[in-house]
Amino acid sequence: MFIECKQVVKAYRVADHELVALRGIDFEMERGAIVAIVGPSGAGKSSLLNLLGGLDTPTAGKLRVGEFNLLELKRRALTRYRLKHVGFLWQHVERNLLSHRTALHNVTLPMMLAGISPFQRRKRAKELLEAVGLAEHMHKRPAQLSGGMQQRVAIAVALANQPELLLADEPTGALDRKSAMQVVELLQELRERYHLTILMATHDMEMASCADRILTLRDGALGQELERDTEKKPILSAEGTVRLPEAAISHLNHGSQISVEIRPEGVLLRPEKEEVFESLVENIQDAPPPRRRLFRALRRRQA
Ligand SMILES: Nc1ncnc2c1ncn2[C@@H]1O[C@H](COP(=O)(O)OP(=O)(O)OP(=O)(O)O)[C@@H](O)[C@H]1O
Ligand SMILES: [Mg+2]
Repeated sequence: MFIECKQVVKAYRVADHELVALRGIDFEMERGAIVAIVGPSGAGKSSLLNLLGGLDTPTAGKLRVGEFNLLELKRRALTRYRLKHVGFLWQHVERNLLSHRTALHNVTLPMMLAGISPFQRRKRAKELLEAVGLAEHMHKRPAQLSGGMQQRVAIAVALANQPELLLADEPTGALDRKSAMQVVELLQELRERYHLTILMATHDMEMASCADRILTLRDGALGQELERDTEKKPILSAEGTVRLPEAAISHLNHGSQISVEIRPEGVLLRPEKEEVFESLVENIQDAPPPRRRLFRALRRRQA
């Protein structure tokens, strides 16, 4: 296995107590796979990516990426690992790119740090910018490019030193739907071309369903692995019934009532709070008989 993660724990010291962000994570990933991690805010997705990228060290457990045992690497070896063996793609452009440098310059920079010759740097940077479809824009600065283009430059930067592993933390979180899909399709294409292994944290189920596997993370623990439901897109029946994907169901708390809100961008389903139902129970006591009957019928259906 390319990545081996065994009983990984991450605790942060916050003021005078410890905050446990990851509580015993176990998973393996094979070389060449694209894996998505989904989970609510605060679940520990970024913490896990930071550990795999050598940006932070686990409190306990075993963590191996390729030939590197990340708990044993000393400072210099860890810096080298970060520079040469792993690429990062973040949600926000400021974290990915230097704003006052051109796309070409941004891509050559990590290679300069790795001691690659100026000739090789330019050659590879041009090749990468071409691979992400930005050959004509290589002399532009980030502000002169669209959000989707900036993220594609960021991919070229991440791949500058030919890493085996690409870690992406909400890489499409700041993009519109169309640019987001383009970024994901590009990642799939580059995976083949550069023999990459990709681990991506996302809130977005459509992005996640482009991965080979989907891991769920909640309160610092991995849940069940989800089936990809790309082939089984939910269909709205004439009666108004939709069969939701597993991932959506697990977000909605099984068996709870849901509220439906119509928004300009679509329809939002949300678990409805129990209190709503309880307050209905109280109000209904002094309601006229027909409403009471309706309520009893509703309650029977819910039970
Ligand atoms: N450097 C840190 N110091 C202290 N606590 C931290 C640190 N980084 C993360 N945490 C805490 O660890 C928990 C997990 O955070 P993390 O950022 O990994 O979640 P996440 O799943 O990436 O969330 P989001 O979707 O909002 O990005 C949270 O409770 C967070 O407040
Ligand atoms: Mg995060």
